[in-house]
Order: sequence, then C-alpha cells, then structure tokens
Amino acid sequence: MKLWGGRFTKATDKLVEEYTASIQFDQQLWKEDITGSLAHVAMLGKCGIIGEEEATVIAEGLKKVAARIEAGDAEFTIANEDVHMNVEKMLLDEVGPVGGKLHTGRSRNDQVATDMHLYLRARVIELIDLTVKVQEALLEQAKANTDTILPGYTHLQRAQPVLFAHHLMAYYSMLQRDAERLMDSWKRINVLPLGAGALAGTTFPIDREFVAELLKFDAVYTNSMDAVSDRDFIIEFLSHASLLMAHLSRLSEEMILWMSNEFNFVELDDAFCTGSSIMPQKKNPDVAELVRGKTGRVYGNLIGMLTVLKGLPLAYNKDMQEDKEGMFDTVATLHGALSLFAPMIRTMKVKKENMRQAVAEDFSNATDLADYLVGKGMPFRQAHEVVGKSVLYSIEQGKYLLDLTIEEYKQFSPLFEEDIYAALDPRQVVNARNVLGGTAKNQVEIQLAQAETQLKSSQLWVENHYSKIDVSLI
Ligand code: ARG
Repeated sequence: MKLWGGRFTKATDKLVEEYTASIQFDQQLWKEDITGSLAHVAMLGKCGIIGEEEATVIAEGLKKVAARIEAGDAEFTIANEDVHMNVEKMLLDEVGPVGGKLHTGRSRNDQVATDMHLYLRARVIELIDLTVKVQEALLEQAKANTDTILPGYTHLQRAQPVLFAHHLMAYYSMLQRDAERLMDSWKRINVLPLGAGALAGTTFPIDREFVAELLKFDAVYTNSMDAVSDRDFIIEFLSHASLLMAHLSRLSEEMILWMSNEFNFVELDDAFCTGSSIMPQKKNPDVAELVRGKTGRVYGNLIGMLTVLKGLPLAYNKDMQEDKEGMFDTVATLHGALSLFAPMIRTMKVKKENMRQAVAEDFSNATDLADYLVGKGMPFRQAHEVVGKSVLYSIEQGKYLLDLTIEEYKQFSPLFEEDIYAALDPRQVVNARNVLGGTAKNQVEIQLAQAETQLKSSQLWVENHYSKIDVSLI
C-alpha cells in the first residue's frame, strides 16, 4: 500500500514504479531527511499541532530508524519511491499509526528542498576547506621557488621569463576567487524552505522560525512558491564548481605539459602517476589527466540542470527530481580532484635547472632589449622594430641575444652600450618588472605575504561555518 494510495484503484505499474523512484540515489539524504523531520516534529509538538507525547514518540521512533539505517539494518525499497517515504514507512513500522502525524503541515516538496539545503550547505564548507588546502600547497611550492625562473608563455610560445612562484600564484589567485564565490553562495544555501507546504503554505499554525533555529538556518524563504521551486542554489553551486574545475583543468594541462620530455620542467611523484601495461618506461600523469577529463562531467551537470529548470511552470514539478544526481556527482568529483591535488602539488619535484636552461636558450628577453632603447630615449614602436631586426639577425647567426657582441649590437643602433648585457640577464629581466602584481621577486613576496593572511581568514571562515551547522538532533 502506497502512502498516497487512497485515490487509486490499481497497483502502480512495475516499470512506472522504477521509472519514478529516486530512492536509488536519494537514499544518501537519509540523515538530512531525519534531521529535518526531527525539527519539524519538535515544532508540531511545541505549537500544539500534535500532542507533546506524540511528538516525543515520533522523535524517538525517528532516532531508532536512524540507528537502524546507520547499522545497515534497514532496507530501502523502490516500492517506497524516495527517501522521504522510505523513512516514513520505517517510522510507521517502528511506532505504529501515530507516526502518520509526522507529515502534518508539510509536503514532500518543502521536505526535499530542506534536505537538499541541509546537504549542500555542509558539502560546500568541506569543498571550501579542500580548496584552501590546494591553495596552501600552491603557496608552499611558490615559497620554495621564489628564485626559480622559467619562460612565461603566450600562444604557447616563449614570451617573457617569470618566477615559477609567480606562475603558481596565478592559480592560487584563481582558487581564492573560487573559494570566495562558494563562501558567498553559502548565504543563499543556508535558507529554510520547510513550512512552504506543497506550494502555498499550510493551514496549521506552524512556527517556521523555530524550525530554522533548530536546524541553524540563518533565514527562512519569504515566499512559499519560491521555496519549493527554487533550484538556483544548486545551479549556482554547479556553476562555481564548473569554474573551479576549469581552473584545476588548466593547471592539470600545464602539469601534463611540464612533465613531458619536451618541457621536462617538473616530475610528479610516483604515488600520483601510473604506468603502462605494455610500455615499461611509461610514467603517466593520470590524475592530472582525469581531473582535466572530469571537468567535462561537471560542466554537463551544470548545463543539464539549467536545461531541466528552464521551462518549468511554478511550483514543484517531478522534473525537479533530476536535480540530485548531477549535484551528488559534482560534489564527489570536486572532492576527489581537490583531495588529490593538494598532495600532488606538494610532492611535485621542480626541475629548476631545466627551467633556467630553457630561459637561457630563448628570446624571452627581447622586450627588455626594446625597453633598454626606450630608456635611452627611442620611441617604443621604433625600438620594437630595431629589436625585431636584432632577433632575426641572431636567429640567422644561430645565437641568442646575450651572445651578440657589442659591435653586432651597434649595427642596429648606436644607443646600445656595454650595460646591455646586465639588462638582458634573466634575473634582471624578472626583477625589472617591479610593478604591483608583476613578477619581480619583491612583488611576488608581497603576494606570498597577502596569501598567508587570506588563507588564515579562509580557515577561520571554514571553522566558523562548521560550527554554524553543528546540528545534532539525531
Ligand atoms: N523524490 C522527489 C524529488 O526528489 C521528492 C518530492 C516529491 N514530491 C512530489 N510531489 N512528488 O523531487
């Protein structure tokens, strides 16, 4: 017998039962579901909507159900459709017909939304926590590489030399924005839908603020129709998650390139690579490749959810049940990527000498040659032309800029003097970019110091928020 079976004269078709059920995936919400129910029943008792003793019996029953599920002693069934009805059925088995009073003044529509808010607010804190750990690993590597110079690229062509610390801190900054975006979104997740009923509110004199207080929500939804129809808190999460994955994917791509024989700039630790079944020499950066690959499914989940929602009239529609798998999958994908990234970065071996060698064998100091002429009064556009000619000449001679003699330089401009060699030295080239946000060592050190402060404040946010959601009703 279905909990909603009254108006039906026939059993549900087996295929329909399977097709419409969500228990296969929403069973992971059982703790959130029971927590929400415990707050709801406490409120029903307090407001005199059901008897105080009845509320106690139901609460005790719910706790027993929780213990049974925890112990692996409860069976979720497709016949009971979703986590809400499975739990309610288990409650009825535990306490008898009085358990039927639990659903007074609520609907599965506000119930499921509440479960999702409870679930996501906790996961988002964990994911921010993990993002901060990746930032810490980046900062640690950056600190160990404030003297490591490598070519910086544009168009994947060597452009200007940069500190490896500077390069790593670019990713740190991207992840900082990701963390801040997630922190900001948290305010919109920590809002209580319960009390919205099916869509219009309820005829019972409920106390939504009391429920919010018990569940430690900062606010309640102002509009009942919005409360049960809103999935933008999920879409916002999927969107921030997509961007975070985009950043990890770009870093993955660079690690894969850097680890190739062609670059040979870093070596990822054996513990984070795998081998080939046929080629004995292979050591593949599989983790980085998979993070890059799994970015696709996170984008897919975002586009999927945006599409599910776009044509839905208010309020609840069964389509909305499609909000779960993509969200669970995104949480798991992010969790995996972030957890692996921190130790992978921390244990990455940086081949400083190869990086230095690369800079010695390129023209990434050409801009500095032009800037040198500008310093002597030549308009930049003209200096660009002169240096272009010098580069072409060097290539023809099989030389780099530091190999040209002063006589050779003078063919291109009388303004060149002996001090040109000092200006072209890679360390000088890097340190000359001494502007806010530039790659000069002292500017990078400013970034590193700022990062320390930022990370402390993120850690504090995480700590505060873990305690903000510390609800132990079960
Ligand atoms: N399993 C449903 C979901 O995930 C719960 C809400 C069902 N509500 C309803 N009126 N059928 O969305």
